[in-house]
Amino acid sequence: KRLLPMTATLGLILAGCGRQDLSVLRPQGPAAESSFGLMKLSITIMIVVLLIVFAIAAYVLIRYRRKPGQHEIPEQVEGSFKLEVLWTVIPLILVIVLAVPTVQAVFAAGDDHSDDKNAVKVKVTGHQYWWEFEYPDYGVTTAQDLVIPAGVDIAFELTTKDVLHSFWVPSLSGKIDTNPDGSTNHFSFSAPNEGVYRGKCAELCGPSHGFMEFKVKSVSKDAFTAWIASMKAPAVMPEDPALAEKFKSACLTCHAVGDMVGSNGPSLTGIGSRESVAGILLNDDTGVDGAPILENLKTWLHDPQSVKPGNRMPDPKELGLSDEEIDGIAEYLAGYTLE
Ligand code: CUA
Repeated sequence: KRLLPMTATLGLILAGCGRQDLSVLRPQGPAAESSFGLMKLSITIMIVVLLIVFAIAAYVLIRYRRKPGQHEIPEQVEGSFKLEVLWTVIPLILVIVLAVPTVQAVFAAGDDHSDDKNAVKVKVTGHQYWWEFEYPDYGVTTAQDLVIPAGVDIAFELTTKDVLHSFWVPSLSGKIDTNPDGSTNHFSFSAPNEGVYRGKCAELCGPSHGFMEFKVKSVSKDAFTAWIASMKAPAVMPEDPALAEKFKSACLTCHAVGDMVGSNGPSLTGIGSRESVAGILLNDDTGVDGAPILENLKTWLHDPQSVKPGNRMPDPKELGLSDEEIDGIAEYLAGYTLE
């Protein structure tokens, strides 16, 4: 009787409950399919080995059990050259069968595709606890929402501003580290279908590691071109000149909007069009899977440390902003959408 709810729960876990999937079991695109293929191969081998071992154990238990009237100790055998060769060679073959495609897939995933003329180049920088995405060929930098054209190979270059992070979009690819030793990792994937995919930092990097999420928005080629153009449009500032001044002095020392470039915090250009605030407060006007963006921005701006403990964002109140000014900036940011 307990089996049914257990199976149902397991089914829910495997299916993923949210609108965005954090599962490797429904791969999208070649990189994720190759990892999924390796999973299926290793699980198949494990099941076959398990069944054979269980069958042999059952056979031995039945065949050599003590029969009625049998009292003497059976013949004691020590060592068997044939058996030892057999149980050394079989696992060796299995390890080779697993290792060859795994090593091939790992090297293929880490190939540097940046010379590929058709690939879109993206420089990924990990920060405690957010992701920066730069498109060097377009002169555009954004944060948290990685916008890519569907079906196009994306050539990533990955580094970190501080500690070790790991870039992971389970339904699109395997994981790749951003190393604090100054080295650059290469990586590529493509998303054949349009949609929003959930990404996560997969390396313990501090108290808010678990909140270091991001989204991949796969859009049509036309929508991608339009997105690039709107990202390059002149900066939109708060309408109220006094608030604009406050926003400049308190926020733009770290953040950037449009071509006004700050370098320490995530770019705020078009933040009103993003899927989430700070990667984890999902923007959802219906309130089913999150809250409307204005509400999320207010939650974040009034107390950033309560949302993501240990993040580098100073408390806006300590920067001299009043509660009204914080609400004003939240309204301005919520309205800063892209065409
Ligand atoms: Cu970044 Cu965990």
